[in-house]
Amino acid sequence: MASHQPVAGGQAGEVYVRRMEPADLAEVMEIERSSFSTPWPLQTFHGLLRRADSLLWVAEAGDRVVGYAVVWIVLDQAELGDIAVAEAWRRRGIGRLLLDTVLDAMAERGVRELFLEVRPSNVEARRLYERYGFDEVGRRKDYYSRPREDALVLRRLLQTN
Ligand SMILES: CC(C)(COP(=O)(O)OP(=O)(O)OC[C@H]1O[C@@H](n2cnc3c(N)ncnc32)[C@H](O)[C@@H]1OP(=O)(O)O)[C@@H](O)C(=O)NCCC(=O)NCCS
Repeated sequence: MASHQPVAGGQAGEVYVRRMEPADLAEVMEIERSSFSTPWPLQTFHGLLRRADSLLWVAEAGDRVVGYAVVWIVLDQAELGDIAVAEAWRRRGIGRLLLDTVLDAMAERGVRELFLEVRPSNVEARRLYERYGFDEVGRRKDYYSRPREDALVLRRLLQTN
């Protein structure tokens, strides 16, 4: 169900966000492996694509996947489990495009709180989340490995009708 929805121009130019499909996973894995020191295995994406409570999107430029975001929902709470943009495509607004898509979809589904974990050292991501109104609500000790680091738990409250 590839609804190909154009996302308004802006810095990202001809970039579209649509739902992820199994055929995207080779490109997604390439970005995942180059973005994270402990990337998710392919099976994790396959598993999430099959789950009714998960939503996965890709950002596409031409016919290339240049970024993706993954969310799962538990009642009125959701977790942004993964978001990444291919290195060559960063700083063009694609992260924002993906987050806009996530937040719209969450609001539509009546989600009231969106959570995520981030490394304190991940300045780029923290800046992005700060701009989107995420607040720090907790810290998980030694959550990450390679290198070992705590996780900051961030939360964004959403308006629902
Ligand atoms: C975090 C990430 C997804 C951002 O994607 P992006 O497409 O580069 O983000 P955008 O271009 O939409 O930037 C949005 C805002 O984030 C902040 N930001 C992004 N990159 C930044 C950088 N290198 N330095 C400082 N701020 C940065 C800025 O506030 C930026 O807005 P601006 O360009 O108007 O100043 C990307 O850096 C990435 O894939 N990182 C590796 C994976 C990762 O760490 N994911 C998050 C895990 S919690």
